[in-house]
Amino acid sequence: MEGYGYAKCIEISKRARWDIDKDVIRGREFDLSQKFLPDGLSKVDELDFLGGEERKFLSQIQGRTYANMFGFVERFIVAKILEITRGHWLGDQIALEALVRFCDEELKHQELFRRIEPMLAVGMPEGYRFLHQPDAVAAAVLQKCTWAVLALILEIELFTQEHYRQSIEPDESLSPLFKDIFLFHMKEETTHALMDELEWPLEDKKLTSKERDRGVDELIELVAAVDGILQAQSKADVDYFLKVRSPQLGKVEIDRIRDGVLKAYRWQYIFSGAEHPRFRTALGSLITEAQGKRINNALGLIR
Ligand SMILES: [Fe+2]
Ligand SMILES: [Fe+2]
Repeated sequence: MEGYGYAKCIEISKRARWDIDKDVIRGREFDLSQKFLPDGLSKVDELDFLGGEERKFLSQIQGRTYANMFGFVERFIVAKILEITRGHWLGDQIALEALVRFCDEELKHQELFRRIEPMLAVGMPEGYRFLHQPDAVAAAVLQKCTWAVLALILEIELFTQEHYRQSIEPDESLSPLFKDIFLFHMKEETTHALMDELEWPLEDKKLTSKERDRGVDELIELVAAVDGILQAQSKADVDYFLKVRSPQLGKVEIDRIRDGVLKAYRWQYIFSGAEHPRFRTALGSLITEAQGKRINNALGLIR
C-alpha cells in the first residue's frame, strides 16, 4: 500500500498493541456449545448430510488446527524477519524498530496460540493431533532463499486479515473468545503485511534474474510443501472427527468429508493468500509473465 512506510507501521503498532490476558482471554474459557471456525473458512456448510452438532464439532476441530497452524508458521516468520533486520542494523533505525516490533508481536502471538491449545484440549474429546513440529518445518522453510520465504510470509499476513474481515467478523454464531483471539491477532497483522511489501522488493533488487528465477521455483516448492502439510493434517483431523463422532456414514460421505476438509485447508492456507489482490500486485511487479504462468500452473495442480 503506497504511502505506508516504516514510521507509519510503528505508529499503527503502538495503537494496536494488546495484552494476552488483559485484552484477549480476560479469564474466559471456550464454550463448546458454539462454533469456532466460520463456514466461510471451514466450508462445513457444503457437507449437507451432516447434522448441526456434527458440523459444529468439525468447525471446532478446524478451529483448533487453525490456531495451531498460526503458532506454527509464526516460528519461521520470526526467524526470517529477525534475519532481515540485519540489513537495517547500521542504517535506518526507524525500519529497524518497525521490524523488531513485528518480531515481538509474532513472539507474543506464538505465546497466545500455545496458551489456547490446552484450553481447547480441556473441552474436546481425546485423540486430536497436530502433526508437525514448528522448529523442524521452520528449519526446512529457511533452507529456501529469502525472496521465496518473504513471498510466503506476505501471503500469510494478507490472508490472516482477509479471513477475519470476510468470514470471522460477520459470523454471529461463533465462540466470542475464538472470535476475539482472531480480532486481536488481525489488528497486529496489518503492519506485518505492509512491512513485507516493503522488504520483498528490497530483497528482489539484490537478485540477478537467474537468482529470481530460482526464487520462483523455490516459492513453488514451498507451496507444495505447505500442501503436503495440509494433506496430512486434514487426514488427521477427519480421522479424529470420525473416531469421536463415528456417524453412520458410508464411503461416499466419508470421502466427501475428506475432500471437503482438504479443500477448506487449501483455501485457508494457500488460495486465499495466493489469490489476494495485494499479493498478486506485489508478485506481478517482480516477475515475468512466464514466471507467473509457472506459478499459476503449479497452483492449478493443487486445486
Ligand atoms: Fe501473528
Ligand atoms: Fe504476522
